[in-house]
Amino acid sequence: MTAPDVTRHNVKRVLEQELARYGRRTPKSAALHERAEAAMPFGVASSFQAGDPYPIYMVSGEGSHITDVDGNTYVDYHNGFGTMAVGHAHPKVRAAIERAAKSGTHFAATTEDDVLLAEELKRRFGMEKVRFVNSGSEATMDAVRLARAASGKDVLLKIEGSYHGHHDAVMYSVVPTMDSGGASERPWSVPFSRGIPKGTEQHTMIVPFNDVDALERVLDEHGDDIGAMIMEPVMMNLGIIVPQRGYLESVRALCTKHDVVLIFDEVKTGVTIAPGGATEYFGVQPDLVCLAKAIGGGTPIGAFGGRADLMDEICNGVAALGTFNGNPLSVAASLATLTEVLTPDAYEHLAKMGTRLAQGCEEVLQNAGVRAHTTDLGCKGSITFSDRKLVHYRDFQTIDDSLFDASWYWLINRGIFQTPGKEEQWTISVQHDEDDIDTFVNVLDEYCREVASA
Ligand SMILES: Cc1ncc(COP(=O)(O)O)c(C=O)c1O
Repeated sequence: MTAPDVTRHNVKRVLEQELARYGRRTPKSAALHERAEAAMPFGVASSFQAGDPYPIYMVSGEGSHITDVDGNTYVDYHNGFGTMAVGHAHPKVRAAIERAAKSGTHFAATTEDDVLLAEELKRRFGMEKVRFVNSGSEATMDAVRLARAASGKDVLLKIEGSYHGHHDAVMYSVVPTMDSGGASERPWSVPFSRGIPKGTEQHTMIVPFNDVDALERVLDEHGDDIGAMIMEPVMMNLGIIVPQRGYLESVRALCTKHDVVLIFDEVKTGVTIAPGGATEYFGVQPDLVCLAKAIGGGTPIGAFGGRADLMDEICNGVAALGTFNGNPLSVAASLATLTEVLTPDAYEHLAKMGTRLAQGCEEVLQNAGVRAHTTDLGCKGSITFSDRKLVHYRDFQTIDDSLFDASWYWLINRGIFQTPGKEEQWTISVQHDEDDIDTFVNVLDEYCREVASA
């Protein structure tokens, strides 16, 4: 095992060296950033796209690769924060969008394609009815409102460290500092943004992931007020944290017992880790499922759906609205994605590539003595720079960022584009091949040797 002080010293040196190299490779991104900052906060379209010292600005993508404004090409493992499981400019998705664009880009009236897409999502996720929206945030916002209305109880339960989008109800305890978070079994609700009205925190209570006892206690004490629970069945905004055996089944049973509507946020897991997402993978059926990202093949679309008796509350005074819901371009792309691209063969390919990547990374990390482990969920996977498996947010908070941070610059400087931040994970597309996977593993191997060398 590498002495930790050697590694730490090397990581600092590598980070400095790679930051300088980043600057030399990306002068046009630096210049565009300067211009962009005068027009947009942080110089980006979403704060999650910001970067230090500046983000890379992209111009095009094809297959598994993307190209930046400086002409550097990368194998893409970021894939639009997990949206591009189809890969870039997939011919079938492109053709579907072109066909739809020729026959009218928007009606704000329902089309037969909307019905076909709703039927496909019902089939995959065991849902009885579906409503379309335009993003993951809209899906969770509408699902939470619906669940509160249907249960007649206002309090939402949320997992500490989870991200469900940027509407107020779920913007609590996303990344709380440990001194702001309260006791681990009963965390406080800590706002993630300024501008959230004071007092609303009483409507969002927090529980730790993978802790049935803590959930049971809070439901015993507050079950009369708690109407909904939202969770990612696999936590994918903490790298990846998988549910312990039996945890999801216990959550399901407790929610049923206390008349709490269980919402699975499958914005990341849906149609990626299995055709029917985590719902299929773990065989636990929630009351409502939220979807977005990969279902749209790169176009803005989201959906939520589930039990018909809940969804029909929309016909009974629960607002579920949106001018662009069911937009023909997005729906055409989504239909092509789900019926022509993400086929059973595609899932087999993703599983094969995912295992090759996770095993390859695990091997080079172990060989170099870097304390880390990998997680393989087919299309999705991650490296966590800790030698023990994580159980919940507070475990994740103890991980030192430096090994990840230095690796990010090392990899991007050698043609691997990853999501920024240790809280994310890789997404493989159907257009990634073995060479793409081996490129990642080889570059990681060089990094591990560099940081672990005495
Ligand atoms: C689990 C989860 N839910 C919801 C969202 C919000 O989705 P969107 O960014 O499309 O609003 C995200 C976004 O990263 C997410 O990861």
